[in-house]
Formats: sequence, C-alpha cells, structure tokens
Amino acid sequence: MKFRKIGVLTSGGDAPGMNASIRAITRTALQNGVEVVGIIGGYSGLINENIRPLTARDVSNIINLGGTLLKTDRCDEFKTEEGMAKAIETCRKNHIDAIVAIGGDGTFRGATDLTNRGIPSIGVSGTIDNDISATDYTVGFDTAMNTVIEMVDRLRDTGESHARCMVTEVMGRHCGEIALLTGIASGAVGIAIPEIEFDVDACVQRMIEQKENGKRNFQIIVSEGVGGIDSGFGDRLAKTIEERTGVETRFNVLGHVIRGGIPTLRDRLAATRMGEKAVQLLLEGKSNLVVCEIDSEIVPVDINYALILDRMYKNKLKDGDLDKFTAEQVADMRAFCERKNAYVRELYDLANALSK
Ligand code: F6P
Repeated sequence: MKFRKIGVLTSGGDAPGMNASIRAITRTALQNGVEVVGIIGGYSGLINENIRPLTARDVSNIINLGGTLLKTDRCDEFKTEEGMAKAIETCRKNHIDAIVAIGGDGTFRGATDLTNRGIPSIGVSGTIDNDISATDYTVGFDTAMNTVIEMVDRLRDTGESHARCMVTEVMGRHCGEIALLTGIASGAVGIAIPEIEFDVDACVQRMIEQKENGKRNFQIIVSEGVGGIDSGFGDRLAKTIEERTGVETRFNVLGHVIRGGIPTLRDRLAATRMGEKAVQLLLEGKSNLVVCEIDSEIVPVDINYALILDRMYKNKLKDGDLDKFTAEQVADMRAFCERKNAYVRELYDLANALSK
C-alpha cells in the first residue's frame, strides 16, 4: 500500500526526546512524499479529532526541548470499543493511513489495537522507565538519570555539611533501572529496587563501618516500585536507617522533576534513529511493530512478542499468553529473562561491593 498520510502521537507519561522522535518521523515521511498530521493529546486526540498538519518547519527547533509538542495523556476511553471506533472514524475521515505512536507499553497496546482494526501502526519508545524488555533502551531514560545524579550530587553537598544520610526516591514504576544505574553513578551506600529484596541489615552494617572510618554523608536510592507504588517504603527506610545507624536521615522524593528538561545527546540520537526507522518500516509495508535498540542496532520487534516478553520478565504471564509463539520463541524469551536478571544482579552486587 502507498501511504499518503500518516498520523503521529505521543501517549502516556512524557519523556525527554519525544520531540526529537516527532521531528524525525515528520521529516522522514515528508521527504518520502507522505503527509503528516500531529494528533494532539495522545489517543484522546484521535478520539476527539484533535489533529493538525505538520510541516518540516513545524518541527524546527524542537530537538532540544523536553516534553512533547503534541501533548499527551493516559486515555481510558481508548481502551473501550466505543473509543476505539471513534479513533478509527477519525483516521478514515482524515485519510490517515497509518499511525506512529510514541510512548511506553500502554501506548504499544493501543498501536496493536489500531493495527488489528485496519490502521497499520508502529510503536516508538518514549518513557523514562526503560521498562520495555524488547528494547535495550527507551528514549528519555538517559536524561532522567542525568537529572537524578545532578539532584543527588546536590543532596550530597548538604548531607556532607550536616553529616546526614539522604534517602532519595526516584520514578521507574515497577522497574528499578533508574534507581540501580543512578545509585551506582552516585556511589550510593544502598540501592532498593523492586527486582531484588533489599537487605537493610547489610546496608546498616556498611554505614556503621563507614561512619567509624569518618564518612559523613550517605546516599541511598530507592525505586518508587519497591513494595508497590505509594507503599511508603522509602520513608520507612529513612526512619529505620536513622534509628539503627544514629545518622540523621532525610527522605526526598524527586518525583516528576526527572521527567522534564533538555534531552541528552543519547536521547536525541536514539529518538532520531527510532523515528526514522518507524517511517521506513511503514513505507516497506510493515506494521504492528515496535522499534527497538538491540546491541546498538535499531531493529523492529513484533509488538505482541514485545508485550508478552515484558509480561514474562515481570512474572505477569497469563494463561494462554505463550500459545501464539513457537517453542523456539518461548525459549528465546526465557533466555532473555535469565540474561536480564543476571545483568541486574551483577550491577546490584557491583554497587554494594564498591560501597564498603
Ligand atoms: O512511566 C513514566 C512514569 O513517570 C513512571 O515512572 C511513574 O510511575 C508514572 O509515569 C507517573 O505517572 P503520572 O505522570 O501519570 O503521575
């Protein structure tokens, strides 16, 4: 099929680098003779027909901006048959032949629903969490982590002055990668992530020994997903640490501050490469794919495979989930999960070993 017009949208939590994707998608399409419309406000924009044409100039000077030119939301109506029907109607009425959807796993579920109803769609990652198993990297992750380490460096200044411990909670939903990598890069004495049970005794012991050696400030990074989001784990941990080490401790939540800001080179580059690839795939007549970065290559992965791999890694498989896949694919998925668990464990052990 020859595409005449594609739609591009951003959905779910915004991520630094989304604008670089929008730019790459728009310009690649235009250069191939395909018109582009921006869908405003994620899938809601598709339901409410909130769309505008995008020219090469519309996407000038956005590569350096955080947030998303196209705005975003989390749209429950899109999950209903009625909402989906309105979205399809908008596509038909406006001659939108295909969609590129930028976001996380919820966004990709939406893209596969559209494809199944006759609008070929492709997903491009845009989430700070790096929680999409099929891709080594999600756009936004690097910028968010650089913000975390900048904030923790600031907390270190005040911690050192007062001889305090700072327990800092960071986003990541159910994925501890932001906490794990920034914990290493901040020389944290403790890192708490959902993937590995936190050993409070060992952390307290390390702190007591270091305090005796003259160490004054201590950084502990906690992923928001430990014990479930809003479980209060970080706050409780701060109190426990203070009681058991005698080090005055403060609890900080970085929250949404790490979702904003100027995208790093890493994010601009990944977004640009992934955006270009998404349009090329559509032009080749391919869809229902998510554009991934695997071993530094930008490659397509079937969306259903990506979503089920994710469920397997997160131990959330439902009955029948694996039925559609060959034995070889299932074996590949299991091997991937083992490798990923080993990688997380290796980094976690490294962090603890160096924090003595
Ligand atoms: O998925 C990105 C993310 O920032 C998560 O890290 C966080 O748990 C969630 O979104 C917060 O969502 P909201 O912006 O809707 O509060």
